[in-house]
Amino acid sequence: MDSPPRIRISRLSKTFRRTGGSTVTPVDNVDLEVGAEEMVVLLGPSGCGKTTLLRCVAGLERPDAGEIEIDGQLVFSAARNICLPPDQRRLSMIFQSFALWPHMTVYDNVAYPLESRGTPRSEIAPRVNDTLALVGIASLVAQYPAQISGGQQQRVALARALVGNTSVVLFDEPLSSVDAKVREQLRVELKRMQQKIRFSGLYVTHDQTEAMELGDRVAVLESGRIAALGDPRSIYEHPPSEYVANFVGAANIWQGRVVRREAGDVLVETGFGDFLAEVGTVAELATGSSVKVMVRPEKFRLSNEISAEGPNLQRVRIETCLFAGPYTEVLVSRGASTARVWVQDGKASERPGEGIDMMLRVESDKIRILPDANP
Ligand SMILES: Nc1ncnc2c1ncn2[C@@H]1O[C@H](COP(=O)(O)OP(=O)(O)OP(=O)(O)O)[C@@H](O)[C@H]1O
Ligand SMILES: [Mg+2]
Repeated sequence: MDSPPRIRISRLSKTFRRTGGSTVTPVDNVDLEVGAEEMVVLLGPSGCGKTTLLRCVAGLERPDAGEIEIDGQLVFSAARNICLPPDQRRLSMIFQSFALWPHMTVYDNVAYPLESRGTPRSEIAPRVNDTLALVGIASLVAQYPAQISGGQQQRVALARALVGNTSVVLFDEPLSSVDAKVREQLRVELKRMQQKIRFSGLYVTHDQTEAMELGDRVAVLESGRIAALGDPRSIYEHPPSEYVANFVGAANIWQGRVVRREAGDVLVETGFGDFLAEVGTVAELATGSSVKVMVRPEKFRLSNEISAEGPNLQRVRIETCLFAGPYTEVLVSRGASTARVWVQDGKASERPGEGIDMMLRVESDKIRILPDANP
């Protein structure tokens, strides 16, 4: 990163004691930075610790260990016994469904953080008006939240977060309670706003599409730890583990055994046939070792020309075809093993038909060899 990070989280941990005496550690030795103008998305299933990590950064939760810096200022350090309260950390937070005050106008909603901080009246009006203009809703100052659209409400929430000149914004699933169609629009809108205003953000979601579309980088969390961190494309194309492969996108995963290894290739046998793959980053690939083989459903090709089987080429039975609009999900079987295959609509004569046999092919550079977590 060229410029210094806006948020730097180092070796951060937080453990809760549950009623009954057991403990849970939703933040487990986490290192993470958010760069200037960067949007980092925390992605993971319910209960993995996303909100807890965000609350630690905001100062709403006191971690047990580690450090947090915001714009170079140490706001939390367990070792040095520093823990600044939320209002002394230069950031703001956007909650679920934006949490606007329904009885206040757009203007008053945006002015609220300044007023509660005791900013002089003469400074408030120009700052509120400038910020509303920045997010493109200057004409709505006198409206109430119920009188404006979801996209406009999102802009009000953003204006309220940015009005104090913090420009580091924490988001906790702000779109989780809006319906799917609106959510898609708000996602695009938020991305455009971020590109225009260039604020830095740490954004929590359990929605993988949201994570990939919004994040410059995505951190996939697994029980309080970062299981993968990178740009959305590399996490999707090169997941480091079965957990990440399954959580980001759809994945076919088979248990396999290394048959032989030569130069950059490895031959793995699975219940779904043999795969010849590029070696990738898995260290343990000795002959006989146990691995997982992962292929995304859209990477397969189906063809009608039946031929002999070989590595990356299997004869399969078409079990079920589910038309999904942009693609058709085809469930295929080979003996007792199955796979999901997504095919684009081709000529009617080439469409897979249920009950027939076809050849299933995948290129070696589309196959991922993942470590077997329980060999
Ligand atoms: N105050 C608390 N006391 C005890 N346990 C807590 C407390 N807050 C959170 N937890 C536990 O910590 C874990 C992580 O919770 P957290 O709210 O961070 O999850 P999350 O990833 O945000 O989940 P969701 O997607 O459902 O919002 C959960 O197991 C939760 O039960
Ligand atoms: Mg949460």
